[in-house]
Amino acid sequence: MKFFLDTANLDELRDAAAMGIVDGVTTNPSLVAKEGKDFKTLVAEICEIVPGPVSAEVVSTEANAMVKEGRELAKIADNIVVKLPTIAEGVKALTVLAGEGVKTNLTLVFQPLQALIVAKAGATFVSPFLGRLDDIGHDGMEVLSEIRQIYDNYGFRTEILAASLRHPLHVAQAAKVGADIGTMPYKTFKSLLNHPLTDIGLERFLADWKAAQQ
Ligand code: G3P
Repeated sequence: MKFFLDTANLDELRDAAAMGIVDGVTTNPSLVAKEGKDFKTLVAEICEIVPGPVSAEVVSTEANAMVKEGRELAKIADNIVVKLPTIAEGVKALTVLAGEGVKTNLTLVFQPLQALIVAKAGATFVSPFLGRLDDIGHDGMEVLSEIRQIYDNYGFRTEILAASLRHPLHVAQAAKVGADIGTMPYKTFKSLLNHPLTDIGLERFLADWKAAQQ
């Protein structure tokens, strides 16, 4: 399973990337707005820190305008992935951009048919938002598992990018169900390794070692 970081914060990205297990980055307009920086400059900096796929999202809602924005974003760096909303206009834009060889990430996916459609249209990545489904009492993991089954049934090569992962259990479950990628906030990424018994065990090892030196 690949790990993507769901952030536009450069300090978070630098720190996480130093562990050598960050395979890509996802951003969205909300995350970019939080940083208060020029969008394209910020995305270019992110692309330098993480050489893997970096999703940058369009803000237009009409296909031609999305295509225009997507082409501009794709010029920023070779590793840019154009993020498009999963609406009819987004699928039209996807068809054009995919035809031009631009990598795409279809976002705001909440049910399996949306995922089937964007795979048929040639999306590089599909982003089901698991946490937001859980928030309204639906089972995000079940939707992920249905998408996995549909893609496997037909051999679609669109990669499933499990998004809106809020805690380590979400990441573990997404891996179990077979998501190709999990994108997560920095806070979740940092908590993946945590276990109290690891901390207690290490403390004990070091205390025993110190005692033996006296
Ligand atoms: O980047 C999209 C997604 O991961 C958002 O997550 O926590 O705002 O639902 P969240």
